[in-house]
Amino acid sequence: MDALAHSLEAYCSPFFHPMAEGIALECIRIIKECLPRVYENGKDITARGYMLVASSMGSTAFQKGLGAIHSLSHPVNSIYNTHHGLTNAVFMPYVLIKNRKAIEDKIVLLSKFIGLRENSFDSFIKWILDIRKQLNIPNTIKEIGVDPQDFDKLSKMAKVDPSTASNPISLSEDEFIELYKSSYYGKLDN
Ligand SMILES: [Fe+2]
Repeated sequence: MDALAHSLEAYCSPFFHPMAEGIALECIRIIKECLPRVYENGKDITARGYMLVASSMGSTAFQKGLGAIHSLSHPVNSIYNTHHGLTNAVFMPYVLIKNRKAIEDKIVLLSKFIGLRENSFDSFIKWILDIRKQLNIPNTIKEIGVDPQDFDKLSKMAKVDPSTASNPISLSEDEFIELYKSSYYGKLDN
């Protein structure tokens, strides 16, 4: 899920890097095909091989930039010692929805490229929610032990995180607080 977050955020980043963008697209397609297979059967060596390649592709792609999934996740990883990829996966749909206006056209193209039946922003969010469920990833940061009393501190850290500058929209400290709240209460409708 970290490799998916790398490619997804790189693909959505507003910085100019067409090569990284192409790598990100193919990386996401491979992850869609292979990650559920690996999760179901750890002995599926072909799928594991593809996931190994996809993880390298994700880290190559993110020279184009990351975004608020990582900005929100890094402080939580540091303070609560949560797993990085899992924490990213929890934040993923909330950040995509927050960035919607800036990324909708690109996400429609991405949903077509990875072969979703319906090519829309909503169907892409549905795919993210489905794959999270398939991998038993929690829906909220409440479930991974984040305390709402820390939201101010976490938001201050998120605002100055190196990933914040390449998020598709500019985010204030208050907006990071809102994102932590949405991710805590499972609010996916804004
Ligand atoms: Fe990461």
